[in-house]
Amino acid sequence: MKTLSIRPISIALGLTAASIGVRAEAPSKASAAAAFGTIYKVLQSPRCVNCHIKGDSPLQGDAGTPHTQNVVRGPEGKGVPGLACTDCHGAANVPASYGPAMPPGAPGWHLPPPEMKMVFQLVSKRDLCASLKDPKRNGGRTLEAIASHLESDPLVLWGWSPGEGRGPVPIAHDELVNAVKAWIGGGAPCPATGEATALPKSAEGSQTASPN
Ligand code: HEC
Ligand code: HEC
Repeated sequence: MKTLSIRPISIALGLTAASIGVRAEAPSKASAAAAFGTIYKVLQSPRCVNCHIKGDSPLQGDAGTPHTQNVVRGPEGKGVPGLACTDCHGAANVPASYGPAMPPGAPGWHLPPPEMKMVFQLVSKRDLCASLKDPKRNGGRTLEAIASHLESDPLVLWGWSPGEGRGPVPIAHDELVNAVKAWIGGGAPCPATGEATALPKSAEGSQTASPN
């Protein structure tokens, strides 16, 4: 009789613990996945895609047209002699009074090197997530290093003050930083299926492949 009365209690406790476990875990996984959606939107902004290109010619403007004057990546991502990035791009934007179409500036303006292109252009949510986590494709970074790059790298921060004639990244920088924390804190999940593999549609202009 005693065992009969104890059993249902332990079963009931077991179920309760299991359902608490599910409740405590589900929101953090779901919010980590949602947080990656925010990160993806930032990375698909023309301010980021224009340097994180598949080809070898950086893109310009919100429409993502190929860079004028046949500017190319070069062996280190810094252009080629006579057309080095820093020949035209200074350490800061020129004053707004110069008007639009001026070369934007931030410290160390250049592209990733040809052997590690760190492509965001025309990359699905799932593939971009995987490449961000892959040290062979992300510049040998840990997730913590990715987080601090997104928090304070000058080329990233430039996206929120891009100079006359260009729109800033459409999501606040604080919101990105919080999303990165939520994503990594929730185990940095990557989308598995469905629309996650679709190519980005929002910034179609900047997604036209560069000619190289
Ligand atoms: C002027 C070109 C340029 C712009 C603009 C730019 N980046 Fe980058 N980005 C680079 C370069 C160069 C590296 C590689 C730096 C290194 O490894 O030393 C890099 C590396 C990265 C990395 C780490 C590598 C990876 O792919 O995981 C991330 C993340 C990143 N950038 C995010 C951004 C975001 C977000 C924006 C827009 C807000 C942006 N970048 C805008 C040039 C740029
Ligand atoms: C001969 C001068 C010159 C050189 C060299 C040059 N750029 Fe530019 N770049 C410009 C000018 C001017 C603009 C602005 C064009 C506009 O807004 O209409 C620009 C714009 C850009 C933009 C667009 C920013 C945006 O989001 O709209 C990127 C990205 C860029 N350059 C990257 C590079 C990289 C990387 C290099 C070296 C591989 C480089 N540029 C070399 C003059 C130059």
